[in-house]
Amino acid sequence: MADLRINLAGIQSPNPFWLASAPPTNSGYQVQRAFEAGWGGAVWKTLGEPILNVSSRFAAVSFNGQRVAGFNNIELITDRPLEVNLKEIAETKKKFPNHTIIASLMVEPKQEKWHEIVKKVEAIGVDGLELNFGCPHGMAERGMGSASGQVPELVEKQTYWVKEVAKTPVIVKLTPNITDITVTAEAATRGGADAISMINTINSLAGVDIDTWNTIPHVAGKGAHGGYCGPAVKPIALNMVGECARNPHINVPISGIGGISSWRDTVEFLLMGATGVQVCTAAMHHGFRIVEDMIEGLNNYLDDKGIASVMDIVGKSVPKYSDWGNLDLNYKIVARINNDICINCNKCHIACEDTSHQCIDMLKAANGESILQVREEDCVGCNLCSIVCPVDGAIDMVELPNELPPMTWNERQAALGTMACDADIIKR
Ligand SMILES: Cc1cc2nc3c(=O)[nH]c(=O)nc-3n(C[C@H](O)[C@H](O)[C@H](O)COP(=O)(O)O)c2cc1C
Repeated sequence: MADLRINLAGIQSPNPFWLASAPPTNSGYQVQRAFEAGWGGAVWKTLGEPILNVSSRFAAVSFNGQRVAGFNNIELITDRPLEVNLKEIAETKKKFPNHTIIASLMVEPKQEKWHEIVKKVEAIGVDGLELNFGCPHGMAERGMGSASGQVPELVEKQTYWVKEVAKTPVIVKLTPNITDITVTAEAATRGGADAISMINTINSLAGVDIDTWNTIPHVAGKGAHGGYCGPAVKPIALNMVGECARNPHINVPISGIGGISSWRDTVEFLLMGATGVQVCTAAMHHGFRIVEDMIEGLNNYLDDKGIASVMDIVGKSVPKYSDWGNLDLNYKIVARINNDICINCNKCHIACEDTSHQCIDMLKAANGESILQVREEDCVGCNLCSIVCPVDGAIDMVELPNELPPMTWNERQAALGTMACDADIIKR
């Protein structure tokens, strides 16, 4: 069995599966049950002020039979008194000394407020701190959460204030509600962050009831924007993790969050540079025991590949993630239809004809049956036909031998003597 233990900026955990700061980590009762189920760590529901919440808080976005494709909430941070939370954190840590407990914190952007709460939570023995600069609703209107997290100077300054007194590692949790997350990630590292975590929820409105004209959810007929999470946000989160992991100015470990529901999702985040993951929506949808499958699946994956430790796969895909300008313009793939498997539904033909490059022909075979065939010289390798095809194996995307040596846009522009299209040059 592979070694599933992780070390994130000095924080040890028996496995990479942590519950994210959210309803599943609201109390000692819940976190202790989660640890019994197998979760390696928990980031406690954010501690801070004020202590209030509204009734009617969540909404799901269902898609094609998937009950919770996306999840939206207008919940604030914990509404339990700080003393109660601290007492339960201490009890939980005592019962589960080898499991990881991180205290998530959010206070006003004032030095004395940060010093006060950091000292209080560290006094009861946590393994680390997570600064919540991410919640997009409620707290943001009061200058906290994502209102802080969208201003690099505030991220840097508040991280610095925390680091002035913190004795345990400090993770800065970033908001995705920003054009370029690497800017705030860099600010966090300048402030002294030991690690960063991402993503918190994305500004959203789950829907509008077309009969009552109320928003979904609504509170006595009034709505407000909420935070979006769950499977739908995974690609956004994965990109943000990858962008931070490949940025040479961000040299701290990353805790990956956003739409993670399975061991496969976890492996993807680890490969893209995360040292461990945090899960919220999937636990709310399926319960704590989903971690059993996650642990087993990750173990089997590592064993099948002969990899001794989960830490050995962290960041393995990062060198493969780059700017568009570094992609080989001469690389070519084309679609090939396997007529023995194809059911002639014509979805590929329609997709190609209406919205792509009109290169799938309907022909008559010798036996009179109609078959679909790709004109390879006109196929641009866009993948659309294989995406819409309902039958596995009916369309393969096949690599053609390179007729020309590899040539990227940047190399081409350099050869032409003009400035390369390098995101770094544009950004800085
Ligand atoms: C109902 C709800 C409440 C949340 N509360 C907090 C919170 O108090 N502090 C925090 O940092 N993140 C909070 N989050 C965000 C989650 O920790 C996590 O970043 C986000 O849900 C993305 O992960 P997921 O796709 O696995 O749900 C909350 C999310 C939900 C759904």
